[in-house]
Amino acid sequence: MLVTLKEIYEYAEKNNVAIGAFNVVNFENIQAILECAEELNVPTIIAFAQTHEENNVMDLDTIGEVMVLMAKNAKVPVCVHLDHGVNLDYIEKSLKMGFTSMMFDGSALPYEENVRQTIEAVKLARKYNVTIEAEIGKMAGITLNNDGVTENRASDRSMYSDPAEAKDFVEKTGVDCLACSFGTVHGEYTAEPNIDFELVKELAEATGVPIVMHGGSGVSHEDYKKVIANGVRKINYFTYMDLAGGKGVSNQTFKTFHEAAFAGKEAMRKDIESAMRCFLNKD
Ligand code: 13P
Repeated sequence: MLVTLKEIYEYAEKNNVAIGAFNVVNFENIQAILECAEELNVPTIIAFAQTHEENNVMDLDTIGEVMVLMAKNAKVPVCVHLDHGVNLDYIEKSLKMGFTSMMFDGSALPYEENVRQTIEAVKLARKYNVTIEAEIGKMAGITLNNDGVTENRASDRSMYSDPAEAKDFVEKTGVDCLACSFGTVHGEYTAEPNIDFELVKELAEATGVPIVMHGGSGVSHEDYKKVIANGVRKINYFTYMDLAGGKGVSNQTFKTFHEAAFAGKEAMRKDIESAMRCFLNKD
Protein backbone atom coordinates (compact mmCIF):
# COMPACT_ATOMS: atom_id res chain seq x y z
CA MET A 1 0.00 0.00 0.00
CA LEU A 2 1.21 3.46 -0.88
CA VAL A 3 1.97 5.79 2.07
CA THR A 4 3.82 9.06 2.73
CA LEU A 5 6.98 9.37 4.79
CA LYS A 6 4.84 10.64 7.67
CA GLU A 7 3.41 7.18 8.33
CA ILE A 8 6.85 5.64 7.91
CA TYR A 9 8.40 8.06 10.41
CA GLU A 10 5.65 7.40 12.92
CA TYR A 11 6.51 3.69 12.73
CA ALA A 12 10.24 4.40 12.99
CA GLU A 13 9.84 6.77 15.93
CA LYS A 14 7.51 4.46 17.84
CA ASN A 15 9.85 1.50 17.42
CA ASN A 16 13.12 3.45 17.68
CA VAL A 17 14.34 2.10 14.35
CA ALA A 18 15.26 3.48 10.91
CA ILE A 19 13.62 2.73 7.60
CA GLY A 20 15.78 2.02 4.57
CA ALA A 21 15.21 4.17 1.50
CA PHE A 22 16.50 2.02 -1.33
CA ASN A 23 17.23 3.60 -4.69
CA VAL A 24 15.80 1.81 -7.68
CA VAL A 25 16.98 1.99 -11.27
CA ASN A 26 15.44 -1.19 -12.63
CA PHE A 27 12.63 -3.67 -12.11
CA GLU A 28 14.83 -6.16 -10.22
CA ASN A 29 15.73 -3.49 -7.62
CA ILE A 30 12.05 -2.87 -6.91
CA GLN A 31 11.21 -6.58 -6.73
CA ALA A 32 14.13 -7.34 -4.39
CA ILE A 33 13.19 -4.53 -1.98
CA LEU A 34 9.47 -5.27 -1.88
CA GLU A 35 10.02 -9.01 -1.49
CA CYS A 36 12.22 -8.36 1.57
CA ALA A 37 9.81 -5.87 3.10
CA GLU A 38 6.90 -8.26 2.66
CA GLU A 39 8.87 -11.18 4.06
CA LEU A 40 9.81 -9.17 7.17
CA ASN A 41 6.38 -7.48 7.24
CA VAL A 42 7.85 -3.97 7.56
CA PRO A 43 7.33 -0.62 5.81
CA THR A 44 9.88 0.50 3.27
CA ILE A 45 10.82 3.32 0.90
CA ILE A 46 11.71 3.03 -2.77
CA ALA A 47 13.49 6.06 -4.20
CA PHE A 48 14.47 7.40 -7.58
CA ALA A 49 17.14 10.11 -7.71
CA GLN A 50 17.29 12.86 -10.31
CA THR A 51 20.98 11.93 -10.69
CA HIS A 52 19.97 8.49 -12.02
CA GLU A 53 18.42 10.27 -14.99
CA GLU A 54 21.30 12.72 -15.41
CA ASN A 55 23.74 9.79 -15.44
CA ASN A 56 21.65 7.94 -18.05
CA VAL A 57 21.05 5.00 -15.72
CA MET A 58 17.23 5.19 -15.87
CA ASP A 59 14.64 7.86 -16.51
CA LEU A 60 11.66 8.90 -14.42
CA ASP A 61 9.17 8.55 -17.28
CA THR A 62 10.03 4.85 -17.60
CA ILE A 63 10.27 3.79 -13.98
CA GLY A 64 8.13 6.30 -12.03
CA GLU A 65 4.69 4.87 -12.66
CA VAL A 66 6.00 1.31 -12.24
CA MET A 67 7.28 2.29 -8.77
CA VAL A 68 3.91 3.75 -7.79
CA LEU A 69 1.97 0.76 -9.12
CA MET A 70 4.18 -1.80 -7.37
CA ALA A 71 3.99 0.20 -4.12
CA LYS A 72 0.18 0.25 -4.33
CA ASN A 73 0.10 -3.51 -4.86
CA ALA A 74 2.53 -4.30 -2.03
CA LYS A 75 1.24 -6.00 1.14
CA VAL A 76 3.22 -3.60 3.37
CA PRO A 77 3.31 0.24 3.56
CA VAL A 78 5.62 1.62 0.85
CA CYS A 79 6.61 5.24 0.34
CA VAL A 80 7.68 6.29 -3.17
CA HIS A 81 10.28 9.03 -2.87
CA LEU A 82 11.97 11.41 -5.32
CA ASP A 83 15.58 11.57 -4.12
CA HIS A 84 18.00 14.52 -4.63
CA GLY A 85 15.57 16.61 -6.67
CA VAL A 86 17.34 19.78 -7.73
CA ASN A 87 14.67 21.39 -9.80
CA LEU A 88 11.03 21.93 -8.96
CA ASP A 89 9.63 21.06 -12.41
CA TYR A 90 11.35 17.70 -12.27
CA ILE A 91 10.08 17.05 -8.74
CA GLU A 92 6.55 18.06 -9.71
CA LYS A 93 6.59 15.57 -12.57
CA SER A 94 7.17 12.78 -10.02
CA LEU A 95 4.39 14.09 -7.76
CA LYS A 96 1.97 14.08 -10.67
CA MET A 97 2.83 10.40 -11.16
CA GLY A 98 1.83 9.71 -7.57
CA PHE A 99 5.13 9.86 -5.65
CA THR A 100 4.33 10.38 -1.97
CA SER A 101 7.53 12.02 -0.82
CA MET A 102 10.23 14.30 -2.16
CA MET A 103 13.67 15.61 -1.42
CA PHE A 104 14.74 19.05 -2.51
CA ASP A 105 18.54 19.13 -2.48
CA GLY A 106 19.84 22.68 -2.31
CA SER A 107 23.00 21.68 -0.46
CA ALA A 108 25.23 22.88 -3.28
CA LEU A 109 23.75 26.40 -2.96
CA PRO A 110 24.90 29.15 -0.60
CA TYR A 111 22.98 28.80 2.71
CA GLU A 112 20.51 31.67 2.25
CA GLU A 113 19.70 30.53 -1.30
CA ASN A 114 19.19 26.97 -0.06
CA VAL A 115 16.69 28.35 2.50
CA ARG A 116 14.90 30.44 -0.15
CA GLN A 117 14.58 27.61 -2.68
CA THR A 118 13.65 25.05 -0.02
CA ILE A 119 10.75 27.31 1.08
CA GLU A 120 9.46 27.13 -2.51
CA ALA A 121 9.89 23.35 -2.49
CA VAL A 122 7.91 23.10 0.77
CA LYS A 123 5.02 24.98 -0.91
CA LEU A 124 5.10 22.38 -3.70
CA ALA A 125 5.10 19.50 -1.20
CA ARG A 126 2.13 20.98 0.66
CA LYS A 127 0.22 21.45 -2.61
CA TYR A 128 0.52 17.70 -3.29
CA ASN A 129 0.15 16.71 0.36
CA VAL A 130 3.48 14.87 0.43
CA THR A 131 6.40 14.93 2.85
CA ILE A 132 9.58 16.88 2.12
CA GLU A 133 13.22 16.25 2.99
CA ALA A 134 15.93 18.86 2.41
CA GLU A 135 19.68 18.93 3.01
CA ILE A 136 22.29 21.09 4.61
CA GLY A 137 25.99 20.44 4.87
CA LYS A 138 27.67 18.71 1.98
CA MET A 139 28.00 15.04 1.12
CA ALA A 140 31.00 13.89 -0.85
CA GLY A 141 30.91 11.60 -3.86
CA ILE A 142 27.42 11.77 -5.36
CA THR A 143 28.07 8.89 -7.71
CA LEU A 144 24.90 6.89 -8.04
CA ASN A 145 25.92 5.61 -11.48
CA ASN A 146 28.13 2.73 -12.53
CA ASP A 147 31.37 4.68 -12.37
CA GLY A 148 32.01 3.93 -8.72
CA VAL A 149 33.30 6.51 -6.32
CA THR A 150 35.16 9.52 -7.61
CA GLU A 151 36.23 11.04 -4.34
CA ASN A 152 36.26 10.25 -0.69
CA ARG A 153 36.20 13.20 1.65
CA ALA A 154 34.52 11.36 4.51
CA SER A 155 36.85 12.89 7.05
CA ASP A 156 36.59 16.43 5.71
CA ARG A 157 34.82 17.98 8.68
CA SER A 158 34.34 21.29 6.90
CA MET A 159 31.55 19.52 4.99
CA TYR A 160 29.66 18.33 8.11
CA SER A 161 26.31 19.90 9.05
CA ASP A 162 26.23 22.48 11.82
CA PRO A 163 23.50 21.98 14.51
CA ALA A 164 22.78 25.72 14.93
CA GLU A 165 22.43 26.15 11.18
CA ALA A 166 20.29 22.99 10.96
CA LYS A 167 17.93 24.37 13.62
CA ASP A 168 17.66 27.71 11.84
CA PHE A 169 17.08 25.92 8.51
CA VAL A 170 14.24 23.76 9.83
CA GLU A 171 12.59 26.73 11.58
CA LYS A 172 12.76 28.90 8.45
CA THR A 173 11.68 26.25 5.92
CA GLY A 174 9.34 23.91 7.84
CA VAL A 175 10.75 20.75 6.22
CA ASP A 176 9.60 17.38 7.59
CA CYS A 177 13.03 15.79 7.84
CA LEU A 178 16.63 16.73 7.22
CA ALA A 179 19.50 15.05 5.40
CA CYS A 180 22.72 15.91 7.20
CA SER A 181 26.39 15.34 6.64
CA PHE A 182 28.23 13.69 9.55
CA GLY A 183 30.82 11.38 8.03
CA THR A 184 29.23 9.14 5.39
CA VAL A 185 29.74 9.51 1.63
CA HIS A 186 27.76 8.48 -1.40
CA GLY A 187 29.16 5.61 -3.42
CA GLU A 188 31.81 3.02 -2.68
CA TYR A 189 33.94 3.66 0.39
CA THR A 190 37.65 3.87 -0.26
CA ALA A 191 38.30 4.67 3.41
CA GLU A 192 36.29 3.85 6.53
CA PRO A 193 33.24 6.09 7.15
CA ASN A 194 34.17 8.64 9.78
CA ILE A 195 30.84 9.08 11.56
CA ASP A 196 30.51 11.69 14.31
CA PHE A 197 27.82 10.03 16.46
CA GLU A 198 27.64 12.90 18.95
CA LEU A 199 26.95 15.28 16.05
CA VAL A 200 24.04 13.09 14.91
CA LYS A 201 22.51 13.44 18.37
CA GLU A 202 23.09 17.20 18.45
CA LEU A 203 21.46 17.58 15.01
CA ALA A 204 18.42 15.52 16.04
CA GLU A 205 18.00 17.48 19.29
CA ALA A 206 18.55 20.88 17.69
CA THR A 207 16.11 20.36 14.82
CA GLY A 208 13.42 18.15 16.42
CA VAL A 209 12.89 16.41 13.05
CA PRO A 210 14.01 12.95 11.88
CA ILE A 211 17.58 12.92 10.57
CA VAL A 212 18.31 11.20 7.27
CA MET A 213 21.60 9.44 6.62
CA HIS A 214 22.74 9.51 3.00
CA GLY A 215 25.57 7.33 1.73
CA GLY A 216 24.04 4.63 3.91
CA SER A 217 25.29 1.46 2.25
CA GLY A 218 28.75 0.14 3.12
CA VAL A 219 28.48 1.16 6.80
CA SER A 220 29.00 -1.46 9.56
CA HIS A 221 25.98 -2.83 11.43
CA GLU A 222 27.49 -1.54 14.65
CA ASP A 223 27.56 1.99 13.23
CA TYR A 224 23.98 1.69 11.94
CA LYS A 225 22.83 0.84 15.46
CA LYS A 226 24.67 3.84 16.91
CA VAL A 227 23.30 6.39 14.42
CA ILE A 228 19.78 5.02 14.90
CA ALA A 229 20.13 5.30 18.69
CA ASN A 230 21.15 8.95 18.16
CA GLY A 231 18.20 9.98 15.95
CA VAL A 232 18.61 8.72 12.37
CA ARG A 233 15.22 7.51 11.12
CA LYS A 234 15.81 7.06 7.38
CA ILE A 235 18.88 5.47 5.82
CA ASN A 236 19.46 5.97 2.10
CA TYR A 237 20.94 2.84 0.63
CA PHE A 238 22.05 2.01 -2.89
CA THR A 239 25.66 1.32 -3.92
CA TYR A 240 26.35 -1.86 -1.94
CA MET A 241 23.02 -3.41 -2.99
CA ASP A 242 23.98 -2.65 -6.60
CA LEU A 243 27.48 -4.09 -6.08
CA ALA A 244 25.94 -7.23 -4.56
CA GLY A 245 23.77 -7.63 -7.67
CA GLY A 246 26.83 -7.24 -9.88
CA LYS A 247 28.75 -9.84 -7.88
CA GLY A 248 25.78 -12.19 -8.04
CA VAL A 249 25.97 -12.39 -11.82
CA SER A 250 29.71 -11.97 -12.44
CA ASN A 251 30.78 -15.35 -11.07
CA GLN A 252 28.28 -17.43 -13.06
CA THR A 253 27.47 -17.97 -16.72
CA PHE A 254 23.90 -17.85 -18.00
CA LYS A 255 22.24 -18.98 -21.17
CA THR A 256 19.42 -16.45 -20.99
CA PHE A 257 19.15 -12.90 -19.75
CA HIS A 258 16.18 -13.61 -17.50
CA GLU A 259 18.24 -16.16 -15.56
CA ALA A 260 20.98 -13.57 -15.08
CA ALA A 261 18.45 -10.94 -13.99
CA PHE A 262 16.95 -13.38 -11.49
CA ALA A 263 20.38 -14.23 -10.03
CA GLY A 264 21.17 -10.51 -9.70
CA LYS A 265 17.88 -9.88 -7.96
CA GLU A 266 18.45 -12.74 -5.52
CA ALA A 267 21.91 -11.44 -4.64
CA MET A 268 20.50 -7.95 -4.02
CA ARG A 269 17.69 -9.41 -1.95
CA LYS A 270 20.21 -11.01 0.46
CA ASP A 271 22.07 -7.73 0.85
CA ILE A 272 18.85 -5.76 1.39
CA GLU A 273 17.51 -8.27 3.89
CA SER A 274 20.62 -8.01 6.03
CA ALA A 275 20.38 -4.17 6.01
CA MET A 276 16.63 -4.15 6.70
CA ARG A 277 17.00 -6.58 9.62
CA CYS A 278 19.66 -4.34 11.15
CA PHE A 279 17.76 -1.04 10.63
CA LEU A 280 14.58 -2.55 12.09
CA ASN A 281 16.15 -4.36 15.03
CA LYS A 282 15.22 -7.76 13.64
CA ASP A 283 18.75 -9.20 13.52
P1 13P B 1 24.86 4.99 -1.29
O1 13P B 1 24.74 4.71 -2.75
O2 13P B 1 26.24 5.42 -0.91
O3 13P B 1 24.35 3.88 -0.44
O4 13P B 1 23.95 6.27 -0.99
C1 13P B 1 22.62 6.28 -1.37
C2 13P B 1 22.05 7.63 -1.13
O5 13P B 1 22.43 8.33 -0.23
C3 13P B 1 20.95 8.06 -2.01
O6 13P B 1 20.46 9.32 -1.69
